[in-house]
Amino acid sequence: MTSASARLLDGLLRERRVLVCCGSGGVGKTTTSAALALRAALLGRRAVVCTIDPARRLARSLGLSELGNEVVEIERERFRSAGLAPTGSLYALMLDTKRTFDALIERHASSPEARDRILANKFYQQMSTTVVGSSDYMAMEKLYELHETGDFDLIVLDTPPTKHALDFLQAPQRMTDAFDESMLAVFLKPWAEAGKKSLGFLGRALNRVVQRVDEVLGLQFVSDFADFMAAFEGMYAGFRERAQRVDALLRERFTAFAVVTSPSPLALQEASYFCDRLREFSMPLEAVVVNRVHRSTLPDGPLRTDFQHRLREEGGERILAAAFDEETPPLLRGLLEAFVDHELQAAGDQLRVENLRAGAAKGVPVVEVPHLEKDVYDLSGLQRIARCLTEGET
Ligand SMILES: Nc1ncnc2c1ncn2[C@@H]1O[C@H](COP(=O)(O)OP(=O)(O)O)[C@@H](O)[C@H]1O
Ligand SMILES: [Mg+2]
Repeated sequence: MTSASARLLDGLLRERRVLVCCGSGGVGKTTTSAALALRAALLGRRAVVCTIDPARRLARSLGLSELGNEVVEIERERFRSAGLAPTGSLYALMLDTKRTFDALIERHASSPEARDRILANKFYQQMSTTVVGSSDYMAMEKLYELHETGDFDLIVLDTPPTKHALDFLQAPQRMTDAFDESMLAVFLKPWAEAGKKSLGFLGRALNRVVQRVDEVLGLQFVSDFADFMAAFEGMYAGFRERAQRVDALLRERFTAFAVVTSPSPLALQEASYFCDRLREFSMPLEAVVVNRVHRSTLPDGPLRTDFQHRLREEGGERILAAAFDEETPPLLRGLLEAFVDHELQAAGDQLRVENLRAGAAKGVPVVEVPHLEKDVYDLSGLQRIARCLTEGET
């Protein structure tokens, strides 16, 4: 039976043009993003998934090279061997933060000389490779680039698994603000205030870079920095305008956000925070995916309800103690213990997902994907996840 939430998510894949998947790392965000794009391709759309850190096996089965930053089409042959025949097409891309940053510099540099000066500048090189927040912003930038090509019906964006995972939402705005102020002040403030409290996207990230660069290069840093600033002159307006357009794209009517989480208490806590922040930023939160949910092995109905009630009231250990005696063979003991463990986990997951539905995700479709016994790394695996997501299959 297709759940209403799964149907709504399927509807987004048919109609929207941008789907941003956000959530903390390790919950299955990359897998979910790829599965959603696959589903869109099966529905006849030209879909691209922009991944950040695909597990190596998944990257390989999508045909993504280590080099990254280029869109590759998943070959028909790969679909055929997975028993799939999409009427649309599926593309994938692995984001390379530095190369995306370089492309942005190329786009906005006032002259080839200014471009080369920046790209060769040590300060820039450090900043573009190690600034944490830059991957947040560059994911957005890549999204905009893909959108601008007009080549795709749907772009699914897998966002960076940063600790401050929602910084990317503020990234365009911060980038805009940053270019409104004197760049020098923005860049130098964190240096002057090194070690003090966070100063936001550019500030916090630069703080670290500047400290490191300074350690390594000593005085050299100052001249590199000055040179960078000089070459950067005249690029602010372009950057600012671009950042505004990225921000506008995130608020388009054809854009949707999905929060991906697992049913663990910590992940759910972060997911709730994400939902709140998306609302705060007036971003269109349209779905919540709870991945790796443990499902009860008992049939839906009074048997399960009663057993789960007993588990909650008495606890697993007491139930097991009552069921065992010294005659109980070790094998049966082990099996029952595993069964009770699983049911406890399932009952806990269910309760937490219900709380999410009634709380932070209220009014938003919540789709569950079961915890599969095997890792998901190929098209068949993705297809299985896609069916759970859009048909409510288990
Ligand atoms: N529903 C699931 N059942 C079993 N394994 C899963 C499921 N979803 C994801 N995985 C596995 O979990 C690991 C992490 O997934 P990934 O999508 O890379 O997480 P994230 O992008 O959130 O860090 C991968 O090995 C993936 O195959
Ligand atoms: Mg990932």
